[in-house]
Amino acid sequence: MDKKQKRELIKAVIFITRSMMMLSLIIVACIAILVFSLFNPHSVQKVLLKSDLKSPVIHPVSATAWASAPRIIPSDVWKSPDESTIPAGKAGDMIRYGKALVTCTAKYLGPQGSVAHLTNGMNCQNCHLAGGTKLFGNNFAGFIASYPKLSGRSGKVEPASERIAECFERSLSGKVPDTSKKEIQSILAYMKWIGKDVKKGQKLFGNSTEKLAFMDKPADPDKGKQVFTMKCQSCHGHNGEGMLAADKKSYTYPPLWGKHSYNDGAGMYRMTNLAGFVKNNMPFGATYQSPQLTNEEAWNVAAFINSQPRPHRNQDNDWKDLKKKPIDFPFGPYADAFSEKQHKYGPFKPIKYAQKELTNKKS
Ligand code: HEC
Ligand code: HEC
Repeated sequence: MDKKQKRELIKAVIFITRSMMMLSLIIVACIAILVFSLFNPHSVQKVLLKSDLKSPVIHPVSATAWASAPRIIPSDVWKSPDESTIPAGKAGDMIRYGKALVTCTAKYLGPQGSVAHLTNGMNCQNCHLAGGTKLFGNNFAGFIASYPKLSGRSGKVEPASERIAECFERSLSGKVPDTSKKEIQSILAYMKWIGKDVKKGQKLFGNSTEKLAFMDKPADPDKGKQVFTMKCQSCHGHNGEGMLAADKKSYTYPPLWGKHSYNDGAGMYRMTNLAGFVKNNMPFGATYQSPQLTNEEAWNVAAFINSQPRPHRNQDNDWKDLKKKPIDFPFGPYADAFSEKQHKYGPFKPIKYAQKELTNKKS
């Protein structure tokens, strides 16, 4: 090896060593970023937000929501069909009338309704948001595909019309329009159209309401009252009475309790339904991706609302099979030994556990 060759060799070795050092530096940096983002996912969301402004993956959310895990919606999530797919002619007219009945129920069937006087003045849409198309807002996506269905409440196999009737009698605390006539048939046509792309048994993200994690303590109506005063009262009124529209025929803000609200046989009278609904939809404008309340606030405000007076419905014939009674059904008798109070406000974990034990033993 001559001098020149030696110099070349040394140069090459130095070059390779430098490159290796650079490369390992880059790898270490990458690992550091990865580890950091794993433990602090929100920082990645912020980066995503900035870099993808046209279709942000995550919407900016309130300060309290940052405290919980990122809430991501799958890209193949169910979406309501486009209005343009409503057929022409009589079939289309029925769907449109059904939609009007769901969104403006009071106008047609409320205390001053133009068709009949059957209901309390609320609209189906008050709880089935955006005409029953909103994620985690009690949407109707999977409804028609899952009926006829065995109802745990009545113990019978029910047609879809019967499930609609139940919301008339309980949520709208009223009477059912003749199920063979135009009104119920149109509501059915509308719901069939909404769910036209959903198959029987299909798993749907964002169906009904979110099942919030149970707390280890009972929900607290007194703390819930504070949430109500700060975050709900401005629209729903000091006494939860809601606010009528200028025409006095329907509500701009629906009542949360009192004689015009849902009765104690309604789905919303159960804490898991109400807390889950409130978490992702209230104050009005909140969504799954931008909730405005912590889970605890949602549980507590639900406890407060459902501890206020409302119409009573005789439910002696509901849930005859006690083992099928929902754990948050606030009226006994029960298959377990927990009190009505615990079934109403929780803690629900011990009840859930006991229920599992019971079904395991008997089956
Ligand atoms: C006060 C709130 C409220 C109002 C108003 C209301 N509902 Fe409901 N509805 C619920 C809740 C909560 C559930 C689900 C609860 C459950 O599973 O027990 C539900 C369930 C349903 C279902 C079953 C959905 C499924 O996928 O199984 C249908 C259909 C329905 N409602 C129709 C209506 C119609 C039609 C109206 C108006 C006439 C109406 N609801 C008014 C709260 C309401
Ligand atoms: C900015 C006004 C506004 C605020 C604030 C607000 N809501 Fe609502 N809320 C509405 C409107 C409007 C509806 C009916 C939605 C529709 O018909 O599309 C509604 C519907 C509801 C319903 C279902 C219908 C009923 O009357 O039972 C519940 C329950 C509810 N809100 C609870 C709450 C709670 C709890 C809070 C506070 C955490 C709250 N809302 C804050 C406007 C508001």
